[in-house]
Amino acid sequence: MQLVYNSLQNNCITRVCGKIIAFGILVAIYGLVVANPLAARDEVQRGACPEDYSPCSCNLTSNGLEVVCADVTLENIHDVFYRTQSLYLYSVLLTVTSFSGTVTLPPDVLKDKRAQHIYLRCPSTSAKLNLIIDSASFEFTRFNTTIFEIHDCDLSAQADMNFLKGFAVLHTLSIVNTWNVDAISSLPNNTLLAIKELTISRCTGLGNVVFPDLTPARLERLYLDGNNLNDPQVNNILISIGSSSSSSSLEQLSLAGNALSKVPRIAAFSQLVTYEVSNNDIAFMSLSTLIFSSPVRFLGLKNVSLTAIEGGAFQGNYTYAQVNLENNKLAAFREDVFKSMLQQMTVQPPAVGGQVIVTGNPFDCGCGLAWLIRDNQPLIPSVKNGVCGGFFRFEDLNPDAYANC
Ligand SMILES: *[C@@H]1O[C@H](CO)[C@@H](O)[C@H](O)[C@H]1NC(C)=O
Ligand SMILES: *[C@@H]1O[C@H](CO)[C@@H](O)[C@H](O)[C@H]1NC(C)=O
Ligand SMILES: *[C@@H]1O[C@H](CO)[C@@H](O)[C@H](O)[C@H]1NC(C)=O
Ligand SMILES: *[C@@H]1O[C@H](CO)[C@@H](O)[C@H](O)[C@H]1NC(C)=O
Ligand SMILES: *[C@@H]1O[C@H](CO)[C@@H](O)[C@H](O)[C@H]1NC(C)=O
Repeated sequence: MQLVYNSLQNNCITRVCGKIIAFGILVAIYGLVVANPLAARDEVQRGACPEDYSPCSCNLTSNGLEVVCADVTLENIHDVFYRTQSLYLYSVLLTVTSFSGTVTLPPDVLKDKRAQHIYLRCPSTSAKLNLIIDSASFEFTRFNTTIFEIHDCDLSAQADMNFLKGFAVLHTLSIVNTWNVDAISSLPNNTLLAIKELTISRCTGLGNVVFPDLTPARLERLYLDGNNLNDPQVNNILISIGSSSSSSSLEQLSLAGNALSKVPRIAAFSQLVTYEVSNNDIAFMSLSTLIFSSPVRFLGLKNVSLTAIEGGAFQGNYTYAQVNLENNKLAAFREDVFKSMLQQMTVQPPAVGGQVIVTGNPFDCGCGLAWLIRDNQPLIPSVKNGVCGGFFRFEDLNPDAYANC
């Protein structure tokens, strides 16, 4: 479950962060009432497994059989899956141990078992374990696996991604906190027809290689957070996806926590509605980079050291958009940047329409704010946490004070 939670957290920035945070709070509150709410829920849902999976562990949940082989040798894993009979498993989590520093998964590591979700994990030691996956390791499960994840490994000895060949219903592939993911460039296109979500996060090696062309797959969500990618590297990735079949299906793109100094262009993606570039170092945002063709849902530009935005930089339909500009260095809240966006947002009531979140920016209280405070009071509710002079909330400023501007 650890893994599932990690991967949720990972995608949280872009996807349903609000919901997850809300869930976290709910659990926290509920935790005050019931000592261990998750344990209580487990008792209801979990039953005995029909077979003995030891030294791996197994739970029968309403999802099906969940098998965890944590810190178990390959020999033991081999033994478990050759011994047991249940063909269909809901999830398999393998954390393999090895004293040699390398683990090679043999052909048919799960024998003929089919698992909907496969999680491979290396022990979280500082020197990562080398993982090598044989192209036939998971052959029998390829028509049934929808989620495949790799965490905390070193893939430098992995020549290709052929172990995913023919995974016809795979919709989510995640590689997290893993070194030397260069093999990703050989992700077998033409066979991953169902893939919708690709995450490569906190990894190394992605910037060195040609990003895979997944045509004719139609990706909807691409999360490339924390990979230390620079402008040309991201540019190459986006050109590759922009010229693939995913250009007209991609809805969510996250590039948070890289080494970007510019907002990468997104004009090639006609369905993009969620774009996250927070935690980069983008001092200036220019006119032509942000052009959304579909109504914007979320734009994250939090903590990017932003000092200035060119007029007209936000193009698109922002009626329902959450625009996060928190923790930047904006001193001016300019009419030619924000007015048309705010006018779109205020078409809807404040609780329904979009908003611009500007917490933690050092706005100046001078005449630069007259257009908003004096001339456009109805737009102010769509600006969240606007403060100038380090102290004065936009909604508390007196319009009359701007009479002589
Ligand atoms: C099975 O459930 C128990 C208790 O709910 C938990 O401690 C254990 O990690 C679970 N094992 C698997 C394989 O999910
Ligand atoms: C597994 O895949 C086979 C072949 O596509 C299919 O017939 C079967 O229904 C699938 N089973 C499950 C549980 O997904
Ligand atoms: C698969 O990728 C190769 C190399 O990028 C490309 O030449 C080929 O056209 C792709 N196949 C499909 C079906 O797009
Ligand atoms: C802000 O972004 C920088 C990278 O530009 C990162 O190192 C830092 O941790 C971020 N701060 C927060 C609070 O996320
Ligand atoms: C903006 O998008 C919303 C749907 O999100 C739509 O209802 C509205 O008509 C669009 N506004 C304009 C001006 O196109």
